[in-house]
Amino acid sequence: MTTLLNATGIRAGYLPGVDILRGVDLHVDEGELVGIIGPNGAGKSTLIKALFGLVAIREGSVTLREDDITNKAAHDLVKAGVGYVPQRANVFPSLTVEENLEMGLFTDPHRWDERVPAVHELFPLLANRADQKAGSLSGGERQMVAMGRALMTAPSLILLDEPSAGLSPANQELVFDTVRKIADSGVSILMVEQNARRCLEIADRGYVLDQGSNAYTDTGDALLHDENVIGLYLGTLGRE
Ligand SMILES: Nc1ncnc2c1ncn2[C@@H]1O[C@H](COP(=O)(O)OP(=O)(O)OP(=O)(O)O)[C@@H](O)[C@H]1O
Ligand SMILES: [Mg+2]
Repeated sequence: MTTLLNATGIRAGYLPGVDILRGVDLHVDEGELVGIIGPNGAGKSTLIKALFGLVAIREGSVTLREDDITNKAAHDLVKAGVGYVPQRANVFPSLTVEENLEMGLFTDPHRWDERVPAVHELFPLLANRADQKAGSLSGGERQMVAMGRALMTAPSLILLDEPSAGLSPANQELVFDTVRKIADSGVSILMVEQNARRCLEIADRGYVLDQGSNAYTDTGDALLHDENVIGLYLGTLGRE
């Protein structure tokens, strides 16, 4: 397998002298769906933001294929083929669904005709609701808009921060199915999730992040059956 994204020894934080990430190592291979789970406050969102150039990396390095992308600006990463869907506020509520998709192409507007059919095929809802304001959609539908927008640039890697958060169980299932479908279409995905069990079930590999460091890593399946991971991170629900 070819490594697409490789992060080594990442240290990052918000306040001077206080590292939230304390030496994180992680990689994503071409075509892989990789999940990150861990307790609240572990630094999962901070890690995704650091990879996307939104939180400064203090130590360590990130490469995308052969290129060093450590601390590259987000708009340059979009051009390099990286998409990002944040945990909160990931659509423009006052814009229509179609306008939200257009925002995804702001770096490259002439690609609309080429890209929109592929995105509509993955998310037929976005074609049916093209003129509806994103703010009037349900949480699950908004998540589709956010993922569709990130796919408009035909990224090779998408960073997803808690795509199922706040959704009904049925909508969560829809999101997990869609994420797997996107990965099966050849787009690599690095996904943070609070629904740890479902995340590991669909992921090829997973990482458990705890207090800003790697705690465990293995295939999704192996982590699901690891007694320590179950006891510490999956809770009693893990023992099905
Ligand atoms: N903008 C910020 N300024 C200062 N500290 C922050 C900021 N954002 C996050 N933190 C702190 O960084 C730590 C990690 O937060 P982060 O959001 O990365 O955790 P998380 O693993 O994504 O948690 P959750 O599961 O709740 O989303 C927390 O202690 C948090 O308070
Ligand atoms: Mg978070």
